[in-house]
Amino acid sequence: MDSIQQKLDDLPDLPTLPHIVVEVNRMMAEQNITVSRMCETIERDQVMVARILKLVNSSFYGFQSQINTVSHAVVILGFQTMQNAILSVSIIESFKKKDVVPGFDMTDFWKHSVAVAVISMKLGEMVKNENPEVCFTAGLLHDIGKVVLAQFFPEMFRIVWNGLHEDSYPSFYEAESDLLETDHARIGDYLGRRWQLPPALIDTIRCHHSIKKNMENLAMVRIVHAADILANTWQGTLREKPVLKSMDQGAKKYVDQQINTLKNWFPATAEEIRQACKFFLGPPEPR
Ligand SMILES: [Fe+2]
Ligand SMILES: [Fe+2]
Repeated sequence: MDSIQQKLDDLPDLPTLPHIVVEVNRMMAEQNITVSRMCETIERDQVMVARILKLVNSSFYGFQSQINTVSHAVVILGFQTMQNAILSVSIIESFKKKDVVPGFDMTDFWKHSVAVAVISMKLGEMVKNENPEVCFTAGLLHDIGKVVLAQFFPEMFRIVWNGLHEDSYPSFYEAESDLLETDHARIGDYLGRRWQLPPALIDTIRCHHSIKKNMENLAMVRIVHAADILANTWQGTLREKPVLKSMDQGAKKYVDQQINTLKNWFPATAEEIRQACKFFLGPPEPR
């Protein structure tokens, strides 16, 4: 990892998070926040104000009445949801650049990430996780290391991509583990620490393919790991039986009831995924 670490340290154009995100994360971490401080911070960035109002008024949240001010949005959604909305919107914006290397389709990448985010939030709600909102953001960011790999290390990405197709590895992660001295989970962990993301998000990014039983934030990692596998089975609709053999046993047990009742809740979730993709990724571009 050392040489990769060095290369990551030396990258001059690795996206940085907008000031507003850093500020909101800091206030939340220090538990030093009031509605007026949150509003003041957001209102310094008018582009963010427009995006947040568009988000809270989108069908994704489904509020009946129109929300026209940031303070109304903060009061209705709460600090945690606002923090996650700001972080989600900013990160997608930072990495929206089009297809960076053959084989890596940025739109498909974000579609998968949004699907994992929505399913993670649903699973979080169903297992009564105390932070389903954070589950959403953790799901959205779980594979962020892949974008860094594709964008800044296209040669390494190509090796994995070719290996995945020529040697039929069962997954991207397994091809990476075999062919590289690093993987997208470790690269994402680096980025998360550099961005000073909340620890639960960093843990999920680092461990979504390699869950350790005694880790902190185990519940959230299990949720995102399970959501990742369910999302990979989702192709607009869920196939009859999701491919569960690659699921970690502890995670499978943790969401056992939800997996057994997929048919009941997944159709509505699939619709939410479509709504969320529409909001976060915009209308499909003409080809
Ligand atoms: Fe992954
Ligand atoms: Fe994934």
